[in-house]
Amino acid sequence: MGRMLTALAAAAVLLLQAGAGTGETLTVDPARPVHGISQTLYGLFFEDINHAADGGLYAELLQNRSFEYEELLNPAPHQHLTGWAFNMGTGKGQIGISTEDPLNENNRTYIRLDAEDGYAFQNLGWGQSAFRGGIPVRKGELYDVSVWLRSVSPGESAQKIAVSLTTRAGAGLSSEVVFEPGGSWKRMEAVLEASETAEDACLSFRAVGTGETDVDMASLMPRDRIGAEWPGGGMRRDLVEALAELHPAFLRFPGGCVTEGSWVWENLYRWKDTVGPVEERKENWNTWGYMQSYGIGFYEYFCLCEEIGALPLPVVGSGVLCQAREPAESPMNEEKLAEWTRDVLDLVEFAKGDAGTEWGALRAAMGHEEPFDLRFLAIGNENWANIYFDRYEKIRNAVKEAWPEITCVVANGPVADGSLFSAGRSTILRRFPEDLADEHYYMDSGWFLKNTHRYDLYPRSSGVFLGEYAAHESAAGGRRPNNLYSALCEAAYLTGIERNSDVVRMCCYAPLLARQGMDQWTPDLIWFDGTRVLRTPNYYIQQIFSGSLAEELIESRWITEGADPDPEREGLYQTAGRKKDGTVYIKIVNVSGEEREIRVTDPEGNPLAGRMTVLSGERQAVNTLSEEKVKPEETAFEGSAAFPGYAAAVIEIRP
Ligand code: AHR
Repeated sequence: MGRMLTALAAAAVLLLQAGAGTGETLTVDPARPVHGISQTLYGLFFEDINHAADGGLYAELLQNRSFEYEELLNPAPHQHLTGWAFNMGTGKGQIGISTEDPLNENNRTYIRLDAEDGYAFQNLGWGQSAFRGGIPVRKGELYDVSVWLRSVSPGESAQKIAVSLTTRAGAGLSSEVVFEPGGSWKRMEAVLEASETAEDACLSFRAVGTGETDVDMASLMPRDRIGAEWPGGGMRRDLVEALAELHPAFLRFPGGCVTEGSWVWENLYRWKDTVGPVEERKENWNTWGYMQSYGIGFYEYFCLCEEIGALPLPVVGSGVLCQAREPAESPMNEEKLAEWTRDVLDLVEFAKGDAGTEWGALRAAMGHEEPFDLRFLAIGNENWANIYFDRYEKIRNAVKEAWPEITCVVANGPVADGSLFSAGRSTILRRFPEDLADEHYYMDSGWFLKNTHRYDLYPRSSGVFLGEYAAHESAAGGRRPNNLYSALCEAAYLTGIERNSDVVRMCCYAPLLARQGMDQWTPDLIWFDGTRVLRTPNYYIQQIFSGSLAEELIESRWITEGADPDPEREGLYQTAGRKKDGTVYIKIVNVSGEEREIRVTDPEGNPLAGRMTVLSGERQAVNTLSEEKVKPEETAFEGSAAFPGYAAAVIEIRP
């Protein structure tokens, strides 16, 4: 009811009758298409930065569930116990970290519990930092729990392990289940029902009887999740829904920097480490400063794409470590590159090969008999110079030879302009004109307003993928806000992208997700904590723009009496398109602080009416986890409207 009243109030403010006042007139001409609009224009870029995957989209509520946590460049034994608390309960005991006779070669570290009856330890889940935990549980909800156990002295009197949800102080938040380990590793599982709602629960393990037990690969996931049947275990429903509501045409994954490997080759993201049974995936240190469990691995990324209706766009390393981090390691030599190229081809087979092929068979065994709809493959991220382009060429030629229908994406460095950018651009046009050039730039908001014509002069025959961008507002402490103004500058820029969508075939904001208090980068499109999701103004711009994607660009002109129609108007940015069914979408962005009265007509001056979705507010307005100040409001459009200062609107006119 409250929401409806707000919408009505917004409508009352916005609407003026057609023909009233002396404001601006925009004429659109649905009969004059300019060019086709790429139907893959708006997509998403997912990277496990800011705990986007582990501690985020991944439904796993436990942190460091398999004791593999270890900083690649600065390892220390205590890191293996990150996220856990020991020495609770009543009995005495000790914990040893062991790798002897492990669960498997990829999952080597486990703990050996040597304790008296009553000794307890806990996993604290994800919280504001790696060491302050908190598992949110809701009364009456079910949680799937599992753990791999092995008794050191199996038999009748072997120690048992009781598992339950508790508070940090050990008070029960569910009944206990008691697992009875045998003499070899075995996965135990149960369902726990939360008896209370709590933000900071733990998963507690209690020794039942005195003895020694090996513990590894614990897991706790809410029953209510997406993809419980995927081997990785599934994803948070609210976050998957937030992604789907963006109507993404594609999903670029899994990075970004994390795909390239930083500093050392051990850090390279190898897709084969991320598939198969989840307990056999080989965890890796993350460029952004934490462990990647790979519970969301390549199979799950492909499944997520299907879930949200997006085409997959995987990114693989290029045989060059992250160039921005000035790696001491040299690029891959011929031999290593040949092996890596084989891995890349295997990935394509994993996605597209039939179930009779080696890697297609793995996909089928994981639960997806049918091939995934893989049409794009990016090789490299933010690379430049021949050290990269020569390796790119070898990998992409091998891919094209085996799978000519795949469109390859070639990196055009990490910046918007300058010599590094232009050298990359001319190399790409000369050597890889068929491929999509992947541009990345994070610029201040003003830059986006000044550069809406960036692509006007690009040759039309070669495509661009704007794989990472965001408008950066400066802020104290470097924590750049997701405020309305930055979102409007992105919206203004996107009108230029739509006008040029014969060249820019795809674009996606970056980064996508950030866990509050555990982020490494600002701004981000979606913020979240353990239970809540925050859609930023930038999110809503993406949503209303991608939700109104036309098929053909049409002309839109500002009319001034006695002057020629003008494609531009100071402080306003616009684009218009039509669908084959005759629906017309007009996007108008007002980045000035002043209200503008705007009429929309056909070329004969007849007012056009339809529905309008508006995003407006204070220039600096931001949304928070507890308050959504900026969100789209829908209203009727009767041929004209007073656009508030700082607003973006999409007008839909049905035939
Ligand atoms: O989006 C965050 C990072 O920015 C990406 O990992 C990288 O590609 C870029 O530098």
